Formats: sequence, C-alpha cells, structure tokens
Amino acid sequence: MTIPKSKHTLQSALAISEWIVDLRRDLHANPELAYGEVRTSRRIQEVLTELGIAHKTGFAGGTGIVATLGSEQGPCVALRADMDALPIQEQSGSDFSSLKPGVMHACGHDTHMAMLLGAARILKQDESSLPGQVKLVFQPAEEGGAGAKKMCDEGVLEDPKVQRMFGMHVWPQLPTGVVGLREGAFLASATFFDILVHGTGGHAAMPNLVVDPVVAGAQIVNSLQSIVSRERDPFGSDVVSISAFNAGDAYNVIPATAHLKGTVRSLSLEDQAANIQRIEEIAKAIGQAHRCRVEVNFPGTTYPPTVNDDKALAVARAAARIVVGEAGLVVNSPTMGGEDFSFYAQKVPSAFAALGIGNEAKGSTHSLHHPEFRVDEDALPIGAAMHAAFAMEALAELNLAKP
Ligand code: NI
Repeated sequence: MTIPKSKHTLQSALAISEWIVDLRRDLHANPELAYGEVRTSRRIQEVLTELGIAHKTGFAGGTGIVATLGSEQGPCVALRADMDALPIQEQSGSDFSSLKPGVMHACGHDTHMAMLLGAARILKQDESSLPGQVKLVFQPAEEGGAGAKKMCDEGVLEDPKVQRMFGMHVWPQLPTGVVGLREGAFLASATFFDILVHGTGGHAAMPNLVVDPVVAGAQIVNSLQSIVSRERDPFGSDVVSISAFNAGDAYNVIPATAHLKGTVRSLSLEDQAANIQRIEEIAKAIGQAHRCRVEVNFPGTTYPPTVNDDKALAVARAAARIVVGEAGLVVNSPTMGGEDFSFYAQKVPSAFAALGIGNEAKGSTHSLHHPEFRVDEDALPIGAAMHAAFAMEALAELNLAKP
C-alpha cells in the first residue's frame, strides 16, 4: 500500500508561497483574452522548463499546455487551471494591476495558474514516490470559449487515460482557509441566446402603418419569464435572463428591428434542452402574434452542468481535510454560474472545489468579474497544496482500488 505524502503539502506550499505569489502577480499584470493567451502560455512553459517538468503545447488553438509528472507505471490523474482574462478595465487599485487597458484577470484565472504551478513544484519534489502519473492541464478560453471542450477533443484525457480529474475556483463568498465542496451538480449548464425581432419600422406617430418590433420584443421578454415560473419543477434550478434589449435611438421613429440577448441556465442537461426549445418556440410564436418575424440563435457552445462524481468527491474531501482541516471544509451551495470544467467531468470522474479567498481586511470581497475584484493571496499556498493533495490522494485511492 502506498502512503500518501499529502500530510506535508501545506507546509511545502507555505515554503514556496512567495514564489507562487510572484508568479501570480506577473500573470495578473499581463492578462490576455480567450485564445490569445500567448505570453501567458510562454510564461507557464518557462516555469515548467525551470522545474524540469515535461510538457507539450499547441493545444486548443495553440496556447493550451499539458505537463506530466510521475511514473508511467500506475494510474493517471489530472489537475486543471484555466488561463484567460476578461474584457474589463481593472479598478482594483493593486500595485500589480493589469498593464493592458480593458483586459483584467477578474475571475482569478491568474491565481489558478500560479496555484497549479505551485502544485507542480511540490509534486516534482516528491516525483520519485508518486504512485502513478499526474497531468497538469493549462487550458485557454474558459470564459465562453469552451477551451476545455477543445482540450478534450484533442485527446488530453487519453494516452495515458485520465482516471480522476480535479479543478478549483477562487471563491470570494467563502473566507480564506475554507474549501467548499458539494455532491452532484455544483455549477449550471449555460447557454447564450440572441433573439432578433424583425418588424418594418416607420413614423412613431403612425403605428397603424408600422409593424413594431419593440412591442413584440417587450412581450417576448415577459413571456420568457413563464418558462421558469410555470413550466419547470419549482424544486429544480433554472434561470432565463434577458441581459440586453437594443432597438432604435429616436423619439419619433419606430425601429425596424429589436435585438435581445440573454442566457439560460439549468442544473440538469435535460431541463436545459427543454428550456432552449421553449425559448425558441415562445419567441417565434409571440413574434408571429405581433406580425414580426423572429430569429433565435444560440451562439457559442452550451456548457454542461459541472457535476461532481462521488468517488472523486471523496478524494477531494480527504484532500481538503488534510490541507484545511475538518473545520475548513464546508458544503458549498450550487451556483448558476457556468464552468467549462464540466466537459472534463462529463468524461472522467471529477470533482470541482471552491477555494475561499474572502477577507475584508485585504479587500477581497468583490464578486468574480467585478472591476475591483481582489484575491487574498494567503489563499494561494492553500490552493497549491489542495491541488497537490488532490493528485496524491487520488493516486493512492486508485492504487488501493486495484484488484
Ligand atoms: Ni472563472
């Protein structure tokens, strides 16, 4: 039987916390948008090379990286970090704020990369005793670009076959020192939609001569609310939100078209499919009732719900107990946010954890995607230790489970 070395991971991570923080600040100051993570990818490759860790690049449009550690004899587990930033102008006031106008690591993916590199360094120190292989997956384009799907399609879960996978997201709603986990669905399936309402437009004083897309669009907004309130199970979890309604720009002109945008979310793939179908049916039928032609499009890729596997979750809990103790382990509420880690979790028994970064004294209280978003960097060694412990505990579990 292999005894996991996870007991020492937090001490190991604390010993390199300055190195992790420096890496994070460098990545934070140089954010790049989805599929453009060129410098970011190069920096990660440099660090992996410095650590003597084998890696391949060029995945998912070029910037994705897969590094491998440990022994080819034995099971294989994977750890994942996302790499992309957001089109937000940073207002955090940090000394290491974004050097790029209009681009910011406002979702903490800079910390995810730094923590995974911290775990890489910890695991490398003990590489000879790893009872199997660890793949470190650095993927582009989590924010709407479904980078994880491309990584899967390009075979990162194969050769050797990944048997367990773990991911983590910094979580401002939990205090630093706390890890949140939950059974089953943790994050929602998410789909974007566009609704184009075509009327004729004309003089606002003569509506009788006009087919008005504004009134039809308004009715569509109202009618879509009945999907969740009247059609879905009240004990389920679904969201339909209209987030944009653009039509016209004059007082006395009825425009020819109205453009609505929104998002639909659900914790189950079946309910999500039903929601998508009903959005299209209702929008078109309401349009027809108002003599308008309606087009409904679903741009991008639907993210499946992120569902934690029971076995992987047990490993993740064991890892959390080692790193933050029983008192630091909480049951996290599900969220209607989406996460493309779900594409891995569809294929491999996986667990996704929330890592507390909330700390009023450090100003890390803003939500993800907020221009003033800050991270309590004391959480970084905890996250690095969590990743390392995920890998060590999962390899131990898989070795024990062998016939
Ligand atoms: Ni994120």
